[in-house]
Amino acid sequence: MKLNQVGFVGWRGMVGSVLLQRMRAEGDFAAFGQPVFFSTSQAGQPVPGPVAELAAQGGAGSASPAPTLRDARDLGALGEMDAVITCQGGDYTESVHADLRARGWRGYWIDAASTLRLRDHATIALDPVNLGLIERGLGEGKRDFVGGNCTVSLMLMALHGLFAEDLIEWLSVSTYQAISGGGARQMRELLSQMGALHRAAEPLLDDPASSILDIDRRAGEAVGALPDGPIGFPLAGSLLPWIDRDLDDGVSREEAKGALETAKILGGNGSNKVPPQVFSTCVRIGVLRCHSQAFTIKLKRDLPLEEIGGIIDGANEWVTLVDNNREGSLRRLTPAAVTGTLDIPVGRLRKLQFDGNGSENGGGGSVISAFTVGDQLLWGAAEPIRRMLRILTRH
Ligand code: HSE
Repeated sequence: MKLNQVGFVGWRGMVGSVLLQRMRAEGDFAAFGQPVFFSTSQAGQPVPGPVAELAAQGGAGSASPAPTLRDARDLGALGEMDAVITCQGGDYTESVHADLRARGWRGYWIDAASTLRLRDHATIALDPVNLGLIERGLGEGKRDFVGGNCTVSLMLMALHGLFAEDLIEWLSVSTYQAISGGGARQMRELLSQMGALHRAAEPLLDDPASSILDIDRRAGEAVGALPDGPIGFPLAGSLLPWIDRDLDDGVSREEAKGALETAKILGGNGSNKVPPQVFSTCVRIGVLRCHSQAFTIKLKRDLPLEEIGGIIDGANEWVTLVDNNREGSLRRLTPAAVTGTLDIPVGRLRKLQFDGNGSENGGGGSVISAFTVGDQLLWGAAEPIRRMLRILTRH
């Protein structure tokens, strides 16, 4: 379909910035008419920096230039858009979306926030995994498309083959989540915390004769003395075994999303298919932008390990199987290796060795484990959103 005007909200934040970066790299701005940049705080001011070029030039068949920022709370201005992409966050979505629809706006709303994800009118977009569901939604006249939770999207990209072949009975996942998931301010704070630790230990580090216990004590004291910032707790030199709100039933909101969003993305919403059960323990660690996940998976049937690896490896063009050995795992299956890329390596694949499952040569047994890493800002956030816009332009 032809999209004449596409509005961008929240394009200066972390996910929004990565989105624009990816859209430029993929030439997405040529696929629609005019990008229009909105702001919640600087309406009327000139569109800044390099974004001004996009706003002035537009894409193929661009209309008139849009040199100033439009007001992101002006429903009339938003209502002129054929599509709105927002990375502004859940509060913004809550404050604008329903009123905009109530005015009869029939454009496409593409959102990174979780607010609308589980509502019936919204589809969670992760097209390598659920293009069929997205197309069905478009055919049914759905107009709200939301990117999934980062951990869930990365898990589904990694285990796509096993989900697609309906091989998973249940899975338990332990996450190792990067601070970028908590936002730009938390990312900055983590680096400050790391610096504070280093500063506390530095005089002793420089002295080869100093005691390691003294170094440990100084660093430990520095962790305990860290001031309250947006993270709220020391993270450098520590970890945080709770992400997002407390749902008062022993499960964090991040963990609840694992089961609910997986079911919805796979089409469990409204279909007869029983989605696999997903149990999560979500943990924040001191990594910048890659989420890692360790899975224990109960398969519905026993398959040779090689066949399982082939199914995982062949599911989409981004996932790759990393051989389960030290060299490959340490070189390719780490946040340091994956950051800034769309790669979804899956490794540490093995059958768990316990009575009645597995054997030393990797034989019988339907309980396996695996490990994956993915960039939380790419497949976990900006990429599904960017691709959803392209799907609309091709529809
Ligand atoms: N909620 C995720 C996290 C990020 O805190 O890591 C966004 O999906």
